[in-house]
Amino acid sequence: MKRAGRTTPTRRAGTAERRDAVRISRVQAADMPYVVALDRRVTGIAKKAYWQSLFALYGKPRLSGRFFLVARRTDGRGEPILGFIIGEVRAWEFGSAPCGWVFGLSVHPEARLAGVGGAMFDAITAEFRRAGVKKMRTMVARDDLLPLRFFRSEGMMAGPYIQLEMDLD
Ligand SMILES: CC(C)(COP(=O)(O)OP(=O)(O)OC[C@H]1O[C@@H](n2cnc3c(N)ncnc32)[C@H](O)[C@@H]1OP(=O)(O)O)[C@@H](O)C(=O)NCCC(=O)NCCS
Repeated sequence: MKRAGRTTPTRRAGTAERRDAVRISRVQAADMPYVVALDRRVTGIAKKAYWQSLFALYGKPRLSGRFFLVARRTDGRGEPILGFIIGEVRAWEFGSAPCGWVFGLSVHPEARLAGVGGAMFDAITAEFRRAGVKKMRTMVARDDLLPLRFFRSEGMMAGPYIQLEMDLD
């Protein structure tokens, strides 16, 4: 059965053109202030130390299946970084064969609905494929419809795992 979402040619034609308007590449040290500012604007929480450690762990070229990519605007105007996506290949967690996990994704509020998120999704998907994994996963809050809609539109669907948690008082 054909999957709905990003593989449907008519629906994706315009989006593919828009996605070509940004350049996706590995994060550089000079990008980090923009990444930190973007995350602060989107989440309302400043986490400079967290971002420093993420850059140290994920900013190195193709280090151990870790990917920290940014979307750069190509017109040279305004904020140079329009978004970021972070993920890694994780092996044998929860009994799962190696797969790619996306655990960070954000697009500048003024750059949304223009294909930036999709372009970054495509780029990290390609990195995971090159790393040799056949499956990609992420996790979203069930009441957070925006990322749910986004990931669903990219072809992702509910997986076979259930997340469990409890309070540690
Ligand atoms: C989710 C997010 C990354 C999407 O980025 P984006 O650049 O706007 O996404 P795109 O323009 O590539 O959209 C791709 C598809 O996602 C879906 N989508 C994106 N935003 C949507 C919205 N507001 N409402 C409904 N569908 C939406 C659409 O199907 C869209 O395809 P279409 O334009 O062909 O209809 C961005 O909204 C964001 O940063 N949100 C806040 C942070 C967040 O939720 N991060 C993800 C969880 S960690």
